Amino acid sequence: MVTKTARKKASKLYTGSAYYPEQWPEERWKKDIRLMSEAGFNVARLGEFAWSALEPSAGRFNFGWLERAIAQLTKAGIETVLSTPTAAPPAWLVEQYPDILALDENGRRVQFGNRCHYCVNSPEFHEATRRLVKKIAETFGTNPHVIGWQIDNEYNRYCYCPHCQQLFHEYLAQRYGTLDELNRRWTTAYWSQTYDAWEQIPMPIGPHNPGLMLEFKHFMTLSYRRFQRLQIDELRPHLKKNVWITHNFMYWHDGYDHYEMSEDLDMASWDWYVGMGHLDYQTDGAAHDLVRGYKRKNFWLMETQPGNVNWKPVNNMLNKGEARTMAWHALGHGADAVLYWQWRSPLNGQEQYHGTLLDTAGQPRLFYAEAQQVARDFSAVSSLIAGSTIKAETAILNDYDSRWSIRWQAHHKDFDYVEHLRHYYRPLAVQNIPVDIISADAALKGYKLVIAPALLILNDKRVANLKAFVRNGGHLVLTIRSGMKDEYNALLPMRQPGELTKLAGVEVEEYYALNEPVPVFGPDWNGNSYFWAERLKLLDEAGTQILARYGTSNGWLDDQAAITQHPYGKGTVTFVGAYLDDASQKLLLQQITGQAGVEPLLKTKVGVEACRRVGADHREIFILINHTRTEQTTQLPWHAAHEHLQGVEIGNTLTLAPYGIAVLTPSTISK
Ligand code: GAL
Repeated sequence: MVTKTARKKASKLYTGSAYYPEQWPEERWKKDIRLMSEAGFNVARLGEFAWSALEPSAGRFNFGWLERAIAQLTKAGIETVLSTPTAAPPAWLVEQYPDILALDENGRRVQFGNRCHYCVNSPEFHEATRRLVKKIAETFGTNPHVIGWQIDNEYNRYCYCPHCQQLFHEYLAQRYGTLDELNRRWTTAYWSQTYDAWEQIPMPIGPHNPGLMLEFKHFMTLSYRRFQRLQIDELRPHLKKNVWITHNFMYWHDGYDHYEMSEDLDMASWDWYVGMGHLDYQTDGAAHDLVRGYKRKNFWLMETQPGNVNWKPVNNMLNKGEARTMAWHALGHGADAVLYWQWRSPLNGQEQYHGTLLDTAGQPRLFYAEAQQVARDFSAVSSLIAGSTIKAETAILNDYDSRWSIRWQAHHKDFDYVEHLRHYYRPLAVQNIPVDIISADAALKGYKLVIAPALLILNDKRVANLKAFVRNGGHLVLTIRSGMKDEYNALLPMRQPGELTKLAGVEVEEYYALNEPVPVFGPDWNGNSYFWAERLKLLDEAGTQILARYGTSNGWLDDQAAITQHPYGKGTVTFVGAYLDDASQKLLLQQITGQAGVEPLLKTKVGVEACRRVGADHREIFILINHTRTEQTTQLPWHAAHEHLQGVEIGNTLTLAPYGIAVLTPSTISK
């Protein structure tokens, strides 16, 4: 496996930008690079989308310009991340092999001139990719100034061509062995869908058989993984041990299973754009924690917005100082690098109005000074922070299969899998409780609290993992829409939560999509359930505690159990049958974290975030971020601390300016 080779811990923090020297006259590069250097940047990402500049016609390579650009950057002390340019197959290639262009679900060819226009399974595209990536790897693989590689850019397109369909059939044949097995798993007797030849099976367009829809997602994951893998296989033999390979993923994109895609990578990275509006740290932190969970280690923020984007209804500028909080927020959640997209406004092309560091005249924009500040910050604490990681005692489980399945049959228009997950995340974030968002199939050792929001799909491994976790003393939270389906997206022939029923001590007698809120009463609170409610039946009357009941509503739910707690082994299972209002959810999670023995890192006012990175020597480094536009004071639980950005000793009171940051190591701990 490729992943074993490149695992060196970060030795410094990076700041930089995406740079496209091929878009500018070479005489200009010197000035660009001087300005990057003056910004304090120590990395640039190059090569992405540069296929036509690197290979102007079939097999004729032109790498000189890239070699010269890397050399100039190196001279200025800036290291390079190189991307493979496969997201932009050039016109000559498409002309030579028109089938490289993906076929959309209406059977129309995707037009040339945007990006990611390729069919991910096209043999001609694969061949051209191999040829180019091999050559790039031979030329740049051993360059000591290329510290890492990015494969392609934000994989996202599906293709519905006959070749993809044939591969889909091969995939199904391998997975199911026989058509009888497939027909059984998909219940194809329903609506006369029975197949007696693999070739009869369509690629699903719009709503379809749930089993077929889920397998199509698995097939698309496999297709992208194969495509990514073929590039890794060309690259890896030429790279030194500590040179990593990544892909820049997109936020909560669900086009494929990101855990599977990350398996072949050394490191995960992602592109974070707030887009319209402003940073919401209680929500956005979840995306960082998600990406950190792909490989359960630190990541790079490969792209972020220098002020504004160009693709939202309103492309507002971030407030002055806000980008600094974004950078620190990313770092506080496990990023080791922050790169802006992009360096300079292109004169033409589809993204003319996007934020950049330099304007069309090649002069620093106002935002440049803010990026400079971020670079100064990172450089001041690089030796302290590089190599440190995030340690969490709480995990939230994330599952693409469950998410897809729920999206296809939401049963309530406002039920969104990710939003429901974040409904559990936010009350933790506001308390400064670190969270790992990890695969539902990941090992759970070391956690005190595991929350499994809407874990609809169960398999044997998940059940065994969760049982062992609780048996050994863990606190598990199961929620609405848990344990309802198997890995073929078929309903289980048992009540929710399936094989977890014994653990939970309850079963779901009935579930209800709600057109109006239903009252939910706990001992200390009085709230509502929105969108959804499950009526819980106690199986272990003596052992199960009812934490909340439904009030009078549709008759079916009146006075029934809504939230329960049940001991199992040395641990506890809380079953949340309601989709609580925010205030009640906050109280519930305070109660649960208290029971599980999970403590906030620090107590701060809402708007001030505390994160913690832990060094290899177990040294704790606290990052405090004032996300508000007013001064904020925080009482620290220590007698004294060192603040590393200013290089000063402070007492037990910290005052942060609007959008202010502090990096603290406590001198003595007296919590
Ligand atoms: C990203 C993409 C970049 C650029 C950016 C604009 O998704 O990777 O190439 O298009 O969006 O916000």
